[in-house]
Amino acid sequence: MWSDPEPPAQLAMTEFYAEHVHSHIHANPHQTLQKYRRRICSELAKFDISIEQLRDKTILDIGSGWQAIVFQELGCRQVYHLDINAKHVDFLNRYIAENGIKNIISEQADISSSLGSAHHIDLAFVAGVYHHLADREGFLSKLLPNMAANSDILFRVYRAGTWSRWLVAMLRTASIGRLTPEQLLSAYRLLHPYALDNQFVGDLIDDLLTPQWLAFRPQQFIADAERLQLKWQCSAAAFDFDFSDQDENFRVKWHIDDPIAINPSNRLIATGQALTENALPTPEIAELAGKLTKLLASLSHYPKRDAATVLVALYFLVRKHSGVDAYRGQIADAAPNPKLADWRIAQLDASLTYFRDWLKQ
Ligand SMILES: C[S@@+](CC[C@H](N)C(=O)[O-])C[C@H]1O[C@@H](n2cnc3c(N)ncnc32)[C@H](O)[C@@H]1O
Repeated sequence: MWSDPEPPAQLAMTEFYAEHVHSHIHANPHQTLQKYRRRICSELAKFDISIEQLRDKTILDIGSGWQAIVFQELGCRQVYHLDINAKHVDFLNRYIAENGIKNIISEQADISSSLGSAHHIDLAFVAGVYHHLADREGFLSKLLPNMAANSDILFRVYRAGTWSRWLVAMLRTASIGRLTPEQLLSAYRLLHPYALDNQFVGDLIDDLLTPQWLAFRPQQFIADAERLQLKWQCSAAAFDFDFSDQDENFRVKWHIDDPIAINPSNRLIATGQALTENALPTPEIAELAGKLTKLLASLSHYPKRDAATVLVALYFLVRKHSGVDAYRGQIADAAPNPKLADWRIAQLDASLTYFRDWLKQ
């Protein structure tokens, strides 16, 4: 049996995204901007928010800064951008200066304790962020009083009970605090030496190593809205577990009539409680989950190189990769797999048997 000398230091959220994730998925700025233009239009359309409605509005964006650029392009009156990561803020401030933009303010802040100068917000675009916050009550207690009357918060959140989120929650038990981005990248290059899929690589490192990762259920956001006496809108399909082709994210909109009437401080919110249910299996796959747990626990007895290779190989079942698509059980442009959930479960089971026997030798 093997023991590695030092476990890797825990990665810090202040550096994680710019250094290890966005450097891959935002490698081509032109493609990135196009992706964010498409994404924002499609997210707004899901709630029937028209571009015209946003023209005289104040927007809050949190993240890499590309969303702020798109909201500004769409003609919003004022855009506030926040991120915990200085590089994202520096990038956006350079972009603002180079393009003579006057109505974006970008500031470094941990949104759980400060919203910088953002206030009187008409639309808070909280996409891909809430599930990475350790202190969600802190964030809401800053956000809600800074919303304008008749405003909206649009959340896009990881959905518990979907295939990719369930499997990632499990795989993280063997990656967090053990492996580094470099070890995952080396394993990826060994398994897939032909071409680099930047999106896949960025998602792989994000999913397996982001310091804070949670998955929620739509009911929790609805319960919170009702506790806070806010109107809500959510068209996510109702299910607890569905391992077929369900979207791994869901969207909810909260509407704030009057921010002064809300008091978030003295209520226990459902999305604020620390969640440990992320990786709970359905009864039907309890045996498979047990087998996976056992294999993942055993990885700590092997060299990091072997652990990373097994994890990356299993991650090919988490999402699609250009050309090879184990995630959907098909190659390139083959017809959709008609029994996707069954295929995924069988494929994972076969992979676990294979790796268990391989490691034992
Ligand atoms: C998955 S990324 C993407 C967010 C957004 N969808 C985008 O593409 O710009 C999550 C972002 O949230 C930021 N973040 C995480 N925790 C934060 C916190 N407590 N305060 C401010 N920003 C935070 C990270 O630095 C990262 O840029």
